Amino acid sequence: MFIPKAIALVTLSAAALLGGCRSERVSFKQDVRPVLEHNCAVCHSPGGIGYEMTGFSVQSYATLMKGSHFGPLVIPGSSQQSDLIWLLRHRASPLMSMPKRCERLATADGKCAAASEHARMLPASQVNMIARWINQGARDN
Ligand code: HEC
Repeated sequence: MFIPKAIALVTLSAAALLGGCRSERVSFKQDVRPVLEHNCAVCHSPGGIGYEMTGFSVQSYATLMKGSHFGPLVIPGSSQQSDLIWLLRHRASPLMSMPKRCERLATADGKCAAASEHARMLPASQVNMIARWINQGARDN
């Protein structure tokens, strides 16, 4: 009696674990895009200072994957190699950490100041969510 019960329990918890993993699959459209739109698009879309200076736009999946004038920022399958995550985790120089503080910008102007009202640091949970999406293949899902 005891053993079958134990087996049933193990099976159940394995199923729960698998279910948990599956529900953690990150969606670009539902999870990632709203965060970027809300926190980054004001500067990183045509007309914004971040876009003007780097060519990096978060307007669509295609522009996000294209990256900036300096190259791709998202390496599908590897958040470790993705400069986007590197910058969001502030491991790069403070000058390069995003979102940008306008007073640190040599070219600071009214436009950046106005836009930076919307700028805030992403909480770790959101950076981790984007990193998971990249590790899961950075798909347009
Ligand atoms: C207030 C405006 C502003 C906001 C908001 C902002 N950025 Fe930026 N971003 C800039 C500017 C300006 C630069 C270029 C200046 C520099 O790199 O020194 C830049 C540069 C970058 C770069 C470097 C691109 C490259 O290849 O050099 C990345 C990546 C980036 N931003 C991502 C983001 C993300 C992701 C967000 C949202 C969490 C964000 N930024 C929010 C203004 C902003």
